Amino acid sequence: MKIGVLASHGGSNLQAILDAIRDGRLQAEVTLVISNNPGAFALERARAAGVATAVINGKSHPDDVARDLAIADALATAGVEWVVLAGYMKKLGTHTLTRFRNRVLNIHPALLPKFGGQGMYGMNVHKAVVEAGEKESGPTVHLVDEVYDHGQIVAQAKVPVLPTDTPEELSARVLKAEHELFPATLSRIAKGELRIG
Ligand code: GRF
Repeated sequence: MKIGVLASHGGSNLQAILDAIRDGRLQAEVTLVISNNPGAFALERARAAGVATAVINGKSHPDDVARDLAIADALATAGVEWVVLAGYMKKLGTHTLTRFRNRVLNIHPALLPKFGGQGMYGMNVHKAVVEAGEKESGPTVHLVDEVYDHGQIVAQAKVPVLPTDTPEELSARVLKAEHELFPATLSRIAKGELRIG
């Protein structure tokens, strides 16, 4: 299973995937990490693991279509079979989505279909969950299509929301669950245990 990862920031989920591969929990190879953000720590994590990196953004490719094609081409050239969004803050273009239809996964830090959609990212999600008085939350791995947080739900993990939780405390608990769920889900896909698309 050849994986291409797109990440905009810290890349702790990328690290969890790289660690799972290193430890033999996931039979896969990350062949490329793409970021829109040249300062993303995710790029350093990739380099430290000997994984090729690319920065593709509005500066390198001001035209939307050219940028979309550059991303699709870079993934295809790296032999990528599965595209993994791990904290990628940009919307993928139609060329990339068409070329990798049903082969793009995202991780969202709440139990979709609740607490998803435009504007529901980062701490906004956890704030909304705490304010709604939810008793549980947790990450969702889902297929990516043209609509935010909309594609088929592939896997979820639940964590409790404590009455005293701040959004930050909840975020840390969910992120820990993400680091388990994402590599485990990829492993089930690699083994053919999950039907996708
Ligand atoms: C995670 O909370 C994930 O659910 C969301 O973006 C965050 C990425 O964190 N899509 P990291 O960059 O993997 O540390």
